[in-house]
Amino acid sequence: MLLRLDRILSDAGTASRSEARLLVQRGLVTVDGAVPASAREKFDPTAAEILVRGVPVRWQVRHVLLMNKPAGVVTSTEDPRDRTVMDLLPEPWRDLDLFPVGRLDKDTEGLLLLTDDGRLAHRLTAPRHEVPKRYYARVEGVLTGEDREAFHRGIVLRDGTRCRPAELELLEGGTAALVTVTEGKYHQVKRMLAAVGKPVTYLERRALGPLELDDALGRGEVRELSGEEIDALEAAL
Ligand code: URA
Repeated sequence: MLLRLDRILSDAGTASRSEARLLVQRGLVTVDGAVPASAREKFDPTAAEILVRGVPVRWQVRHVLLMNKPAGVVTSTEDPRDRTVMDLLPEPWRDLDLFPVGRLDKDTEGLLLLTDDGRLAHRLTAPRHEVPKRYYARVEGVLTGEDREAFHRGIVLRDGTRCRPAELELLEGGTAALVTVTEGKYHQVKRMLAAVGKPVTYLERRALGPLELDDALGRGEVRELSGEEIDALEAAL
Protein backbone atom coordinates (compact mmCIF):
# COMPACT_ATOMS: atom_id res chain seq x y z
CA MET A 1 0.00 0.00 0.00
CA LEU A 2 1.48 3.33 -1.06
CA LEU A 3 0.51 6.54 0.70
CA ARG A 4 1.76 10.11 0.41
CA LEU A 5 4.36 10.99 3.02
CA ASP A 6 2.32 13.94 4.36
CA ARG A 7 -0.64 11.61 4.80
CA ILE A 8 1.52 9.04 6.63
CA LEU A 9 2.86 11.68 9.03
CA SER A 10 -0.58 13.09 9.74
CA ASP A 11 -2.11 9.61 10.20
CA ALA A 12 0.66 8.93 12.71
CA GLY A 13 -0.30 12.07 14.63
CA THR A 14 3.22 13.42 14.09
CA ALA A 15 2.15 16.58 12.27
CA SER A 16 -0.73 18.04 10.32
CA ARG A 17 -0.36 17.65 6.56
CA SER A 18 0.87 21.22 6.13
CA GLU A 19 3.33 20.85 9.03
CA ALA A 20 4.48 17.58 7.44
CA ARG A 21 5.27 19.40 4.21
CA LEU A 22 7.40 21.93 6.14
CA LEU A 23 9.25 19.16 7.98
CA VAL A 24 10.10 17.52 4.65
CA GLN A 25 11.17 20.83 3.08
CA ARG A 26 13.51 21.44 6.01
CA GLY A 27 15.11 18.03 5.51
CA LEU A 28 13.97 16.78 8.94
CA VAL A 29 12.37 13.62 7.55
CA THR A 30 14.20 10.57 6.25
CA VAL A 31 12.77 7.51 4.55
CA ASP A 32 15.04 4.44 4.56
CA GLY A 33 17.98 6.73 5.27
CA ALA A 34 17.37 9.21 2.45
CA VAL A 35 15.79 12.67 2.50
CA PRO A 36 12.71 12.60 0.22
CA ALA A 37 12.36 15.34 -2.39
CA SER A 38 8.75 16.10 -1.54
CA ALA A 39 6.02 15.29 0.98
CA ARG A 40 3.97 14.16 -2.03
CA GLU A 41 6.25 11.18 -2.63
CA LYS A 42 4.54 7.88 -1.87
CA PHE A 43 5.84 5.12 0.39
CA ASP A 44 4.59 1.93 1.96
CA PRO A 45 4.11 2.92 5.64
CA THR A 46 4.14 -0.72 6.74
CA ALA A 47 7.59 -1.32 5.21
CA ALA A 48 9.55 1.95 5.01
CA GLU A 49 11.60 3.22 7.95
CA ILE A 50 10.44 6.80 8.39
CA LEU A 51 12.20 9.07 10.88
CA VAL A 52 11.35 12.63 11.91
CA ARG A 53 14.29 14.37 13.56
CA GLY A 54 15.74 10.87 13.96
CA VAL A 55 12.68 9.52 15.80
CA PRO A 56 10.77 6.61 14.19
CA VAL A 57 7.22 7.37 13.08
CA ARG A 58 4.63 4.87 14.22
CA TRP A 59 2.07 4.86 11.44
CA GLN A 60 -1.50 3.78 11.98
CA VAL A 61 -4.52 4.15 9.77
CA ARG A 62 -6.53 7.12 10.85
CA HIS A 63 -10.20 7.41 10.00
CA VAL A 64 -12.34 10.51 9.99
CA LEU A 65 -15.92 9.89 8.92
CA LEU A 66 -18.72 12.32 8.23
CA MET A 67 -22.21 11.08 9.12
CA ASN A 68 -25.53 12.63 8.25
CA LYS A 69 -27.18 11.72 11.56
CA PRO A 70 -30.89 11.01 11.51
CA ALA A 71 -33.22 11.76 14.43
CA GLY A 72 -33.90 8.90 16.86
CA VAL A 73 -30.35 7.67 17.47
CA VAL A 74 -28.13 8.73 20.35
CA THR A 75 -24.58 10.05 19.96
CA SER A 76 -22.63 7.54 22.00
CA THR A 77 -20.73 4.32 21.44
CA GLU A 78 -23.23 2.21 23.36
CA ASP A 79 -26.54 2.66 25.08
CA PRO A 80 -28.70 0.24 27.08
CA ARG A 81 -31.98 1.45 25.50
CA ASP A 82 -31.52 3.39 22.31
CA ARG A 83 -29.91 2.76 18.96
CA THR A 84 -26.62 4.63 18.69
CA VAL A 85 -24.84 6.29 15.79
CA MET A 86 -22.43 3.33 15.84
CA ASP A 87 -25.31 1.01 14.89
CA LEU A 88 -25.62 2.94 11.61
CA LEU A 89 -22.04 2.27 10.52
CA PRO A 90 -21.69 -0.05 7.53
CA GLU A 91 -19.46 -3.12 7.79
CA PRO A 92 -16.05 -1.72 6.81
CA TRP A 93 -16.14 0.74 9.72
CA ARG A 94 -17.93 -1.37 12.32
CA ASP A 95 -14.89 -3.06 13.80
CA LEU A 96 -12.74 0.07 14.13
CA ASP A 97 -12.41 1.91 17.42
CA LEU A 98 -14.37 4.90 16.21
CA PHE A 99 -16.16 7.35 18.46
CA PRO A 100 -18.26 10.45 17.84
CA VAL A 101 -16.66 13.91 18.03
CA GLY A 102 -18.86 15.97 20.35
CA ARG A 103 -22.53 15.13 20.42
CA LEU A 104 -25.86 15.87 18.82
CA ASP A 105 -29.09 15.33 20.76
CA LYS A 106 -31.20 12.29 19.97
CA ASP A 107 -33.70 14.41 18.03
CA THR A 108 -31.04 16.55 16.27
CA GLU A 109 -30.06 15.64 12.70
CA GLY A 110 -27.12 16.45 10.48
CA LEU A 111 -23.36 16.64 10.39
CA LEU A 112 -21.51 14.48 12.90
CA LEU A 113 -17.86 13.42 12.74
CA LEU A 114 -16.61 10.04 13.93
CA THR A 115 -12.94 9.23 14.27
CA ASP A 116 -10.37 6.99 15.92
CA ASP A 117 -7.99 9.95 16.31
CA GLY A 118 -8.26 11.13 19.91
CA ARG A 119 -5.95 14.08 19.32
CA LEU A 120 -8.07 15.45 16.48
CA ALA A 121 -11.30 14.90 18.46
CA HIS A 122 -9.85 16.69 21.45
CA ARG A 123 -8.73 19.67 19.40
CA LEU A 124 -12.11 19.91 17.65
CA THR A 125 -14.03 20.01 20.91
CA ALA A 126 -11.60 22.16 22.95
CA PRO A 127 -13.30 25.52 23.67
CA ARG A 128 -10.18 27.52 22.83
CA HIS A 129 -10.26 26.39 19.18
CA GLU A 130 -13.66 27.97 18.59
CA VAL A 131 -14.52 25.95 15.48
CA PRO A 132 -17.80 27.51 14.26
CA LYS A 133 -20.80 25.19 14.09
CA ARG A 134 -23.82 26.18 12.04
CA TYR A 135 -27.31 24.88 12.78
CA TYR A 136 -30.63 25.22 11.02
CA ALA A 137 -33.39 25.60 13.62
CA ARG A 138 -37.17 25.88 13.35
CA VAL A 139 -38.87 27.48 16.32
CA GLU A 140 -42.22 28.16 17.93
CA GLY A 141 -43.03 31.84 17.56
CA VAL A 142 -41.27 34.37 15.34
CA LEU A 143 -37.64 35.44 15.69
CA THR A 144 -36.90 39.15 15.34
CA GLY A 145 -34.06 41.57 14.73
CA GLU A 146 -33.95 42.09 18.51
CA ASP A 147 -33.25 38.39 18.97
CA ARG A 148 -30.45 38.71 16.41
CA GLU A 149 -28.94 41.58 18.41
CA ALA A 150 -29.24 39.57 21.64
CA PHE A 151 -27.37 36.66 20.01
CA HIS A 152 -24.72 39.10 18.83
CA ARG A 153 -24.21 40.46 22.34
CA GLY A 154 -24.12 36.97 23.89
CA ILE A 155 -27.18 35.16 25.20
CA VAL A 156 -27.55 34.60 28.94
CA LEU A 157 -29.17 31.19 29.44
CA ARG A 158 -31.99 30.71 31.95
CA ASP A 159 -29.53 29.28 34.49
CA GLY A 160 -27.40 32.44 34.22
CA THR A 161 -24.67 30.98 31.97
CA ARG A 162 -23.36 33.56 29.50
CA CYS A 163 -22.74 32.33 25.94
CA ARG A 164 -20.20 33.70 23.51
CA PRO A 165 -21.54 36.03 20.82
CA ALA A 166 -23.32 34.02 18.13
CA GLU A 167 -24.88 34.72 14.75
CA LEU A 168 -28.58 34.41 14.10
CA GLU A 169 -29.70 34.63 10.47
CA LEU A 170 -33.47 34.76 10.21
CA LEU A 171 -35.20 32.56 7.64
CA GLU A 172 -38.77 31.75 6.61
CA GLY A 173 -40.23 34.96 8.07
CA GLY A 174 -38.49 34.38 11.42
CA THR A 175 -39.97 30.92 12.04
CA ALA A 176 -36.55 29.42 11.33
CA ALA A 177 -32.92 30.54 11.50
CA LEU A 178 -29.30 29.63 10.90
CA VAL A 179 -27.49 29.80 14.22
CA THR A 180 -23.68 29.86 14.29
CA VAL A 181 -21.97 29.17 17.61
CA THR A 182 -18.32 28.71 18.56
CA GLU A 183 -18.80 26.60 21.66
CA GLY A 184 -20.56 23.37 22.54
CA LYS A 185 -22.48 23.69 25.78
CA TYR A 186 -25.07 21.02 26.63
CA HIS A 187 -28.24 21.59 24.50
CA GLN A 188 -26.68 24.91 23.59
CA VAL A 189 -28.77 26.00 20.61
CA LYS A 190 -32.05 24.86 22.15
CA ARG A 191 -31.26 26.68 25.39
CA MET A 192 -30.19 29.87 23.56
CA LEU A 193 -33.42 29.97 21.58
CA ALA A 194 -35.47 29.08 24.67
CA ALA A 195 -33.79 32.04 26.43
CA VAL A 196 -35.38 34.42 23.89
CA GLY A 197 -38.74 32.66 24.26
CA LYS A 198 -38.63 30.70 20.97
CA PRO A 199 -38.38 26.97 21.73
CA VAL A 200 -36.82 24.79 19.04
CA THR A 201 -39.11 22.39 17.19
CA TYR A 202 -36.47 21.04 14.78
CA LEU A 203 -32.65 21.19 14.74
CA GLU A 204 -30.09 20.15 12.15
CA ARG A 205 -26.33 20.78 12.13
CA ARG A 206 -25.38 22.01 8.66
CA ALA A 207 -21.69 22.88 9.05
CA LEU A 208 -18.64 22.34 11.25
CA GLY A 209 -15.70 24.63 10.45
CA PRO A 210 -15.03 24.20 6.71
CA LEU A 211 -17.19 21.05 6.40
CA GLU A 212 -20.74 21.34 5.11
CA LEU A 213 -23.53 18.85 4.87
CA ASP A 214 -24.41 18.32 1.23
CA ASP A 215 -27.29 16.57 -0.52
CA ALA A 216 -25.03 13.78 -1.78
CA LEU A 217 -25.01 12.15 1.66
CA GLY A 218 -28.43 10.82 2.62
CA ARG A 219 -29.75 10.73 6.20
CA GLY A 220 -28.05 7.92 8.10
CA GLU A 221 -25.23 7.65 5.54
CA VAL A 222 -21.52 7.93 6.24
CA ARG A 223 -18.42 8.69 4.16
CA GLU A 224 -14.70 9.12 4.80
CA LEU A 225 -13.35 12.68 4.65
CA SER A 226 -10.90 13.28 1.82
CA GLY A 227 -7.30 14.29 2.56
CA GLU A 228 -8.15 17.83 1.43
CA GLU A 229 -11.10 17.99 3.83
CA ILE A 230 -8.92 16.81 6.72
CA ASP A 231 -6.34 19.46 5.75
CA ALA A 232 -9.03 22.16 5.78
CA LEU A 233 -10.33 20.96 9.13
CA GLU A 234 -6.86 21.03 10.69
CA ALA A 235 -6.18 24.46 9.22
CA ALA A 236 -9.33 25.71 10.98
CA LEU A 237 -7.96 24.64 14.39
N1 URA B 1 -27.44 22.38 20.41
C1 URA B 1 -28.49 21.68 20.88
O1 URA B 1 -29.33 22.20 21.60
N2 URA B 1 -28.60 20.40 20.51
C2 URA B 1 -27.74 19.77 19.68
O2 URA B 1 -27.91 18.60 19.37
C3 URA B 1 -26.65 20.53 19.20
C4 URA B 1 -26.52 21.83 19.58
